[in-house]
Amino acid sequence: MRKIAVLTSGGDSPGMNVAIRAVVREGIRLGCEVFGVYGGYEGLIEGRIKRLSERDVGGIIHRGGTMLQTSRSERFRTEEGRARAVRQLQASGIESVVVIGGNGSFEGAKKLEAEGVATVCIPGTIDNDMPGTEMTLGFDTAVNTVVEAADRIRDTSFSHDRIGLIEVMGRNSGSIALWAGVACGAEYVIVPEIEFRIEDLIRKLQASIRDGKRHSIILSAEGVGSGADIASRIKAMAGYDVRTTVLGHLQRGGSPTAADRVLGSRWGVEAVHLLTRGERGRLLGIVSNKIVAHRYDDPIRQENHNDVSLATILQNLSI
Ligand code: F6P
Repeated sequence: MRKIAVLTSGGDSPGMNVAIRAVVREGIRLGCEVFGVYGGYEGLIEGRIKRLSERDVGGIIHRGGTMLQTSRSERFRTEEGRARAVRQLQASGIESVVVIGGNGSFEGAKKLEAEGVATVCIPGTIDNDMPGTEMTLGFDTAVNTVVEAADRIRDTSFSHDRIGLIEVMGRNSGSIALWAGVACGAEYVIVPEIEFRIEDLIRKLQASIRDGKRHSIILSAEGVGSGADIASRIKAMAGYDVRTTVLGHLQRGGSPTAADRVLGSRWGVEAVHLLTRGERGRLLGIVSNKIVAHRYDDPIRQENHNDVSLATILQNLSI
């Protein structure tokens, strides 16, 4: 009987539980034994491995976070740490691992594959910054969380004729800011992918004010630096009342949206199908609503290239 393990690694994202559930239930349905590794790669090194039943993953589909917990493991970056992790898998007779996580976790999955363990990687991160996929697991939920917060901040910004600057996560990617910006009708977004000139922003705010609109929402991606610093510069240059909100880890928690639940279920099932067919070393993705599986050794294209066109849409629609 095939033995498959599943682990979550790096920053958690809403929908990880959905994917765990799908791996466990589809794996067992196909006659595999499925194991959960607790605490990501760090837990793997420590041998925190437990066999899971279909019931063990009940009641988690709507929960944010990851029931298996996660870590950013420094030890797994070392040869010694990886050797110990492989020995732990061998001791339990496990030959394949489904890794759910972001870019760092994907690098880890490639290393594990190189050590002889069959792996499939599910892109799980709110950042939407992984190659070969138009969407990552948790991104849709995070965007919805930001939109909800931005709508609230717009209410009070309007009441006080203020500018609300909201700093959002995304590491070096502006995806969350761009998607949420279009969805909440933000007046401006500042993202790493597009050169930022504070003069352009101030001109836009001035034009709005001349037009009789005295409040605005600006979304600023963390990858461009501190939102509070940008707010201070706007205040210093134009004298506007700017209030900054850093949404922080709010964006990482919460119940996954239906879109993330469907994506996590499809990817979890696909990961098991690949491994049971003996297809390994694959990074999953979604392109044109089709599930795709890229070989680790293929050049994998970055698929979130349409972000910049969202900035144009945002700019043309917000007045
Ligand atoms: O990769 C997900 C992410 O939330 C990034 O958007 C953010 O930069 C980082 O993780 C924060 O990491 P931590 O939770 O370790 O502070």
